Amino acid sequence: MASISAANDGMSAEVFPELTRDVIDRMKDAESPRLREILTLVIGHVHAIVREAKITHDEWWQAVDFLTRAGKMCSDSRQEFILLSDILGISMLVDAIDHVGGPGLSESTVLGPFYAGQQRELAAGESILLREEDSAPLEMRGRITDSKGQPIAGALVEVWQTAPNQLYDVQDKDQPDGHLRGSFRSDAVGAYGVQTIMPVSYPIPNDGPAGQLLAAMGRHPFRPAHIHFMISAPGYRTLVTHLFLDGDKYLGSDAVFGVKPSLVIRPSLHDGINTVEYDFGLADERLSTRTQVEELRRQHR
Ligand code: BEZ
Ligand code: FE
Repeated sequence: MASISAANDGMSAEVFPELTRDVIDRMKDAESPRLREILTLVIGHVHAIVREAKITHDEWWQAVDFLTRAGKMCSDSRQEFILLSDILGISMLVDAIDHVGGPGLSESTVLGPFYAGQQRELAAGESILLREEDSAPLEMRGRITDSKGQPIAGALVEVWQTAPNQLYDVQDKDQPDGHLRGSFRSDAVGAYGVQTIMPVSYPIPNDGPAGQLLAAMGRHPFRPAHIHFMISAPGYRTLVTHLFLDGDKYLGSDAVFGVKPSLVIRPSLHDGINTVEYDFGLADERLSTRTQVEELRRQHR
């Protein structure tokens, strides 16, 4: 059993170091080495935070209460822990580590909590609206390719965005289910086409603990206007990304840190309609993150 050997005098001595070692050592029979590896880091880092910040009982209780309230906020249509992960930059950090990037490949960003599963399949160029909206139309087209620019036929292109009232259909009982969502297939030359409306910026749900935390940190809850894409095809890594509208006032301060310059689009007028051409490059799924990157570097040497 661990005993307290260092005085909690707030000076340089580490408080109760054998406790941390004891908690970690008791995982020798953990069900997987990876779980043990991760939990060793979690315990080490959390104990270090408690020591360094000299956390009080009151503060620890506040943290427990915060997490309890976050859990109680969760339902089939609300995921407070995803929001917390997003506003603290953890989702984008995991994505930066696990995403396969490189020449010819599209950049990814957060999934967010409003993906609602695969939707009705529409013909190329069809509209994802299920009711009229008082917004400027937007036509999107382009190609789905591999890292070398070769077309990927039959890729599933899933699209979703909010209505002009800043809400997704799943947040708003007045919108028809599936409004501003749809699935498309790329054709033989990898082409896709989507008809929609110009997206708007909107606040992430901020009526719960994540919103309270944002306010406490002195931050706003807005995301710049964007359209979500999830693109999948057999043999390729699924791409989860968005396209953001250039000029949006929140591009530099997205509440969830999701903006990347390569994902910013500038619609141009064609026959009076806002039009965007954007190609998506998918990574080969057979290679792990590291070998894929090395392979791409080798090819472009
Ligand atoms: C979204 O873009 O749908 C979203 C992403 C992260 C948190 C909340 C919403
Ligand atoms: Fe969104």
